[in-house]
Amino acid sequence: LLASAVALMPAAVFAADLTVGFSQIGSESGWRAAETSVAKLEAEKRGITLKFADAQQKQENQIKAIRSFIAQGVDGIFIAPVVATGWDEVLEEAKDADIPVLLLDRKVDASDDLYLTSVTSDTVYEGKVAGEWLAEAVGGAECNIVELQGTTGSSPAIDRKNGFEQGIAGSDNLKIVRSQTGDFTRSQGKVVMESFLKAEGGENICALYAHNDDMAVGAIQAIKEAGLKPGEDILVVAIDAVPDAHLAIANGEMNATIELTPNMAGPAYDALEKYLADGTMPPKWIQTESRLFTASDDNNAIYEEKKQLGY
Ligand code: AHR
Repeated sequence: LLASAVALMPAAVFAADLTVGFSQIGSESGWRAAETSVAKLEAEKRGITLKFADAQQKQENQIKAIRSFIAQGVDGIFIAPVVATGWDEVLEEAKDADIPVLLLDRKVDASDDLYLTSVTSDTVYEGKVAGEWLAEAVGGAECNIVELQGTTGSSPAIDRKNGFEQGIAGSDNLKIVRSQTGDFTRSQGKVVMESFLKAEGGENICALYAHNDDMAVGAIQAIKEAGLKPGEDILVVAIDAVPDAHLAIANGEMNATIELTPNMAGPAYDALEKYLADGTMPPKWIQTESRLFTASDDNNAIYEEKKQLGY
């Protein structure tokens, strides 16, 4: 009886038997650390064995880890791809081994038959929302913007730049006067902002757009050390909505952030479990929500909430 009851159960019940390899980029930001924690917690909750590999920002380390997951015969591979290009060969290898690949939070420039699905936000839209928010906040005033880009060649850096430019298109009073990578890190955000402030025209910066909150938080420090008031003398808008950004908004040192959920792994486990259970094909793109937060939200409360969630 038990055997026939078990036979009728969907295979997803046996998630405990699943082994997933996750090639993570590294730990460049608070958001990245939260994404890793959620992936580990969700695996534990579901009884999935998670093999985790930290690539320390290097694509070659990611490729090595993926090859090792293939050799170990895992049931699925999660990849948060550090840059967009250069994945075809290793993705072909995973396909030949019949191991489904799921992309988390960043996209690749490769044929979409090389992966099962991609769980990401609309990163162009995030940039657009940031640009539109700034255009509205500034009104008709002249505004020189400096931009801190994410990791060069990464899909969010490319998309958030394009999206922002779309968001400010048509507002001729808004001009991006400097744009440089801060590699998505707090420390580089600070260093690059210091150089923006010291460079010619540094005294006329009206706004900072950072491709993530960590760079914005580093830059806020640089702005304060230069004797200026972030959030007032220089408007600050960024992306991620990590707890520190909510705190900075609550303190009046930052003006807006667009939320990127760190729960990329949850929908990816769901899709993988269903696919392995009965072949259900997920959509090629599982889009996560993007939400704008400003000073009109209760940022102190949101900070506490996110902290309690272990963010
Ligand atoms: O790919 C997502 C981006 O990578 C996040 O916005 C950033 O914080 C992270 O490092």
